[in-house]
Amino acid sequence: MSELLLADRVKDLKQSGIRKIFDMVPKAKNPINLTLGEPDFDVPVAIKEAAKEAIDRGFNKYTPTQGIPQLRTAVADYLLSRNIKQDEVMITAGVSGGLVLSTLALVNPGDEVLIPDPYFVMYKQMVKIAGGVPVFLDTYPNFRLTPEILERAITPRTKLLLLNSPNNPSGTVLTAKEINALVEVIKAKNLFVIADDIYDRFVYDSDHCESIAARDIDVLLLGGFSKTYAMTGWRLGYAAGPSWLIQRMCTLQQYSFTSANSSAQYACLKAFSCDISSHIANLETRRDFIYNALRELGFNPTRPEGAFYIFTPVPSGYTSQTFIEACIEKELFMIPGDAFSEHNTHFRISFAASWDHLKRGVEVLRTMVK
Ligand SMILES: Cc1ncc(COP(=O)(O)O)c(C=O)c1O
Repeated sequence: MSELLLADRVKDLKQSGIRKIFDMVPKAKNPINLTLGEPDFDVPVAIKEAAKEAIDRGFNKYTPTQGIPQLRTAVADYLLSRNIKQDEVMITAGVSGGLVLSTLALVNPGDEVLIPDPYFVMYKQMVKIAGGVPVFLDTYPNFRLTPEILERAITPRTKLLLLNSPNNPSGTVLTAKEINALVEVIKAKNLFVIADDIYDRFVYDSDHCESIAARDIDVLLLGGFSKTYAMTGWRLGYAAGPSWLIQRMCTLQQYSFTSANSSAQYACLKAFSCDISSHIANLETRRDFIYNALRELGFNPTRPEGAFYIFTPVPSGYTSQTFIEACIEKELFMIPGDAFSEHNTHFRISFAASWDHLKRGVEVLRTMVK
């Protein structure tokens, strides 16, 4: 037997550009790791205690496919506090699980899915796995999606728009005004939207995060616990949307994930009352540090308003890969922009890293631009 046995849908599938770099880090002697797509703080104590208790009390079995009712209610209440009211909530295996279920439930072969570029790595591949056609909406150089860019890309084959704000990798956060302008096009064109709000708590220049899911349009909201409560390994997220879609996603979940992690669901009943504001304030200080340092070195980064990444053009003479390779030789690990983009011109730094790594990283970058 050989790889000829493999299905067509995985033949072109390559290891994610993030994983590739990630896997190289442990091989370095004294790596400076600015690759991380996860917070560097710990899971809040109340949630950890609740998880231990849930395991001890025997909550270790399958849960209802849609998730335990108490957590679905807690999520619905949280969403209401963001002015988001949807028919139904289901609990998923991370936002990744929600993305798998929703693309499989919505995308037919040949359907076009609009993806603002730069984008989270999974979007392009998941649309292709479902047989759809990713259509990239170029938002360079300032990474703001305008109604004009959106409208231009819509064709009779357009199925939906995949929107991520706060954005990974650019850190841009859509304002209420920008959302309103997009909503006009979305309504006029009767477009369905998947809103990936996983970074909704990571905003720095405002006290709350506007969501397109709070508007009167057809939308599926995906949200998660991974980033907010630093539990990327627990695999817990949620989807909220119209019943006709959530019900089919649940049926798909029955035949795939079965249910999300049981003890994590019980533990996260404590999540919404945990105060993470000091962590956000801490990240904001690091955001300011890295933004100012990059500018002082002559880079031209876009100032991140949310998430915990900064996306910056590489110095002239480099592509994103050659720049990252040169940095890796100096033990500085970051992610090349083409992992998130059809462009090959930027690199992503995660500032959810220790001060030591951030400061050492800046010193290596100083030697790169000398
Ligand atoms: C924009 C975006 N969506 C979804 C995910 C996946 O999150 P989860 O851990 O909840 O599956 C990530 C993780 O990096 C992300 O950046």
